[in-house]
Amino acid sequence: MQFSKSRPLPLRLLAFRVTSSFLITLWICLQPQHLVCATEIPVAPEHVQRNEIEQSIPHTFSPIDAHDPLLQERGTDDDGYVPDFAYFDRSLIGRQEAEVIKLENNKPHTSELAPEKVAFFRFEKGTGASKRDENLSPGSSLDRLETKNTSGRSISEDTVEEKRSDEELLLEETPFENSLDRRQNAARRIWISANTCRQPIVTIPLMSTDPPKLTLYISSSEQRPGPNTPRDQLLTDPADFVKGFANFTTETDGDLFIGVSSPVLTSGWDGSWSFEVAASLDGSFHNFLARDYLYMVDTDSDSALFVTFNLTTSNSTADLDKWKNGNPFTMYAFPANANSSRAVIGLEHSYCGLKSLFNTTNNISVSTTITTKFGGGRPKAQFNVQGLKMDEEYTGFLAVDGANENLRLPLITDDDGDTEQFVVRGGGQVFAQWKWRTKADDSCQVIQDLEFCDNIAYAVPSSSAFKQNDAGLMKLYDDLAKSYYQNFTNSLDQIACETTSTAQYSLARNCDDCRRDYKDWLCSVVFPRCEDYGAQGDWLHARNINTPFANGSIPHMDNLTAVFNSTFRDRFAYNRSRVPMIDDQIKPGPYKELLPCDYLCHNIVRSCPAILGFACPEGEALEHAYGEAKKSFQNLTCNFPGAVKILNRAVGASPKTVGIDPGVVMFAVFVVGLFGIL
Ligand SMILES: *[C@@H]1O[C@H](CO)[C@@H](O)[C@H](O)[C@H]1NC(C)=O
Ligand SMILES: *[C@@H]1O[C@H](CO)[C@@H](O)[C@H](O)[C@H]1NC(C)=O
Ligand SMILES: *[C@@H]1O[C@H](CO)[C@@H](O)[C@H](O)[C@H]1NC(C)=O
Ligand SMILES: *[C@@H]1O[C@H](CO)[C@@H](O)[C@H](O)[C@H]1NC(C)=O
Ligand SMILES: *[C@@H]1O[C@H](CO)[C@@H](O)[C@H](O)[C@H]1NC(C)=O
Ligand SMILES: *[C@@H]1O[C@H](CO)[C@@H](O)[C@H](O)[C@H]1NC(C)=O
Ligand SMILES: *[C@@H]1O[C@H](CO)[C@@H](O)[C@H](O)[C@H]1NC(C)=O
Ligand SMILES: *[C@@H]1O[C@H](CO)[C@@H](O)[C@H](O)[C@H]1NC(C)=O
Ligand SMILES: *[C@@H]1O[C@H](CO)[C@@H](O)[C@H](O)[C@H]1NC(C)=O
Ligand SMILES: *[C@@H]1O[C@H](CO)[C@@H](O)[C@H](O)[C@H]1NC(C)=O
Ligand SMILES: *[C@@H]1O[C@H](CO)[C@@H](O)[C@H](O)[C@H]1NC(C)=O
Ligand SMILES: *[C@@H]1O[C@H](CO)[C@@H](O)[C@H](O)[C@H]1NC(C)=O
Repeated sequence: MQFSKSRPLPLRLLAFRVTSSFLITLWICLQPQHLVCATEIPVAPEHVQRNEIEQSIPHTFSPIDAHDPLLQERGTDDDGYVPDFAYFDRSLIGRQEAEVIKLENNKPHTSELAPEKVAFFRFEKGTGASKRDENLSPGSSLDRLETKNTSGRSISEDTVEEKRSDEELLLEETPFENSLDRRQNAARRIWISANTCRQPIVTIPLMSTDPPKLTLYISSSEQRPGPNTPRDQLLTDPADFVKGFANFTTETDGDLFIGVSSPVLTSGWDGSWSFEVAASLDGSFHNFLARDYLYMVDTDSDSALFVTFNLTTSNSTADLDKWKNGNPFTMYAFPANANSSRAVIGLEHSYCGLKSLFNTTNNISVSTTITTKFGGGRPKAQFNVQGLKMDEEYTGFLAVDGANENLRLPLITDDDGDTEQFVVRGGGQVFAQWKWRTKADDSCQVIQDLEFCDNIAYAVPSSSAFKQNDAGLMKLYDDLAKSYYQNFTNSLDQIACETTSTAQYSLARNCDDCRRDYKDWLCSVVFPRCEDYGAQGDWLHARNINTPFANGSIPHMDNLTAVFNSTFRDRFAYNRSRVPMIDDQIKPGPYKELLPCDYLCHNIVRSCPAILGFACPEGEALEHAYGEAKKSFQNLTCNFPGAVKILNRAVGASPKTVGIDPGVVMFAVFVVGLFGIL
């Protein structure tokens, strides 16, 4: 190990080096911690990464044990202690058949595996205190699980699991000596799962084949199941680690034997594998769920913002604090270009694989917080991804750490918003991957956490002058909103709001409704939601079309016709921003606006005293100022506080043209102008 890292030495030192290496080797071999000796190790070229992987994998045993290929062949007892003379014994008598590592219930074992090797594990009958066996008689709800071996776990099974887990909690302290014998002989369900944490790397630039995969063998009779074991000795067909994940479950009253084999490395691939395997009596220790569990809030040219679904169905502060004190969510992002995505292929469903790959391969940083924004005051995990490149496609992975064992998360199961829970177990959980593209220019910038408009979190019109100055940009917008709001409350204060309900302007609405609806509307109007000029969608409204892009060109210079001038170029609806401050102080290039939803305007008209004189534009003026929420669309067709986008999986969407209906030039801010009347 030590020597493979050292630099080449001048020749005259070679003799000295050889001698001293030998001595050092011997010395190292005598240290209990350094049982790995150069001659026997299949050295992984990436052993440099070991440190990181060690730090990124939750260990329940000594890390030396975890990464020591030799130990696998020699076996190890439960606490990872190996008597050091064993090595010398065997080096004298020659290599014996690899030994079998004993697995404990819910304790993952991490192993290194060189090409063309097999690692063996066993899960003995009687291992682990299965509370479940005592509590559920055979023939009860457990029956439904019994014969499954490959099909997907359905929600109903999860529900069964829920019930059981609750019973487990209740019976946690029940003495179980009496049932020990029965447990050891009764059939019980065992889940085996495994993740690829590292795999060989490609050495030929244009290699198009997928990385070679590990294979899982399970047997109840053959102690060392592997590629040479006949099929009738195995409980199931050999199972490849698909995208870094393999699992199996069975009912048995005996021992279970597990083999993990590595294939031959074909040319173009170099290195070895690292994988984690676990046996559990409670459910699959490692998990992949082919579902979405988050929304995209927005992206700009160098960052992106995401939120998970609601983490609880209540808005209690106790629930919120619980999540804030232990946020298990994390997100990994990789450029989706051919080179970067190739490293991810083969690890997409593996928590430990993604985690170590993300840490070692890129400059992208993800900061994770718990927020109650984006609807309902319910806690959600929020991810701010930074360090992205302009106009690039990225792949994202949402994962949940399993350290907080048996964490329950709600999962929306149908369109009515009904929820079921699912359980994240010790090995963590990975969700379906998704892709997104960063914006192509600097005219839009994501902002969040504003002081006054605290519900705003999306891209607003900006310019390269503010690219590194989020705070300055936020202050310009927020101060403007505050100023409008102050003038509004000054007016509202002159109205008899605080009198008894009979004297109030409306029985159904009061001034608090008015203030709330005004603020929602105001913030959506002062902070226009910004998209690239090149974005397609007939709900997007072009702004600032006569200003140059960053490269100096002006849009539509191929169309100098009088009709184009009169319907677009010369109209305020297209050649300005919604709020004058944006053009005066921020000076964005051309961009498109996702218009605020029309109901935001209608809400203030309904909620506020008529004497304030609020009115919404109508007809074509409305079309230039507000968007319409279209229920049938998956897409966000208008903006409102807390609006989020459904993840984009489709690539190459059919382009849509921008609506070009001529219309009266009107801006939503005109409502604010009406304050002059008061
Ligand atoms: C990444 O690796 C560094 C050290 O190499 C470690 O300190 C850090 O915790 C790791 N981060 C993650 C997310 O694993
Ligand atoms: C178990 O898996 C094997 C091979 O995939 C399949 O042939 C068999 O029908 C499965 N048995 C059950 C009960 O699903
Ligand atoms: C294997 O894992 C997948 C994804 O978590 C799950 O749908 C499937 O039911 C599991 N299969 C077994 C045999 O546990
Ligand atoms: C991909 O990798 C090859 C070889 O390492 C390199 O020549 C090429 O520029 C890379 N492409 C990208 C987009 O990074
Ligand atoms: C929770 O929601 C209820 C009703 O929606 C609301 O009255 C209450 O103020 C909320 N509590 C918190 C802490 O947000
Ligand atoms: C990461 O950032 C450093 C310094 O900014 C840069 O030199 C390096 O090329 C970046 N690496 C990648 C993979 O983008
Ligand atoms: C969270 O729950 C609230 C109330 O049920 C709902 O209005 C909101 O849309 C949910 N938000 C997300 C992001 O799921
Ligand atoms: C608010 O009112 C003051 C005084 O009338 C005025 O100077 C200021 O411009 C107003 N603010 C806005 C945003 O219109
Ligand atoms: C300038 O940039 C815009 C937007 O990024 C792009 O649409 C246009 O094709 C570019 N023009 C030239 C001449 O590169
Ligand atoms: C349309 O506007 C452009 C830019 O302002 C100008 O160059 C062009 O001459 C105008 N076309 C007509 C027909 O007026
Ligand atoms: C120019 O714009 C007008 C009005 O939108 C449109 O009818 C015409 O087809 C456009 N001409 C070209 C060459 O794009
Ligand atoms: C909705 O958005 C998706 C992804 O952004 C796009 O593929 C799709 O075409 C859009 N739908 C419509 C009706 O434009």
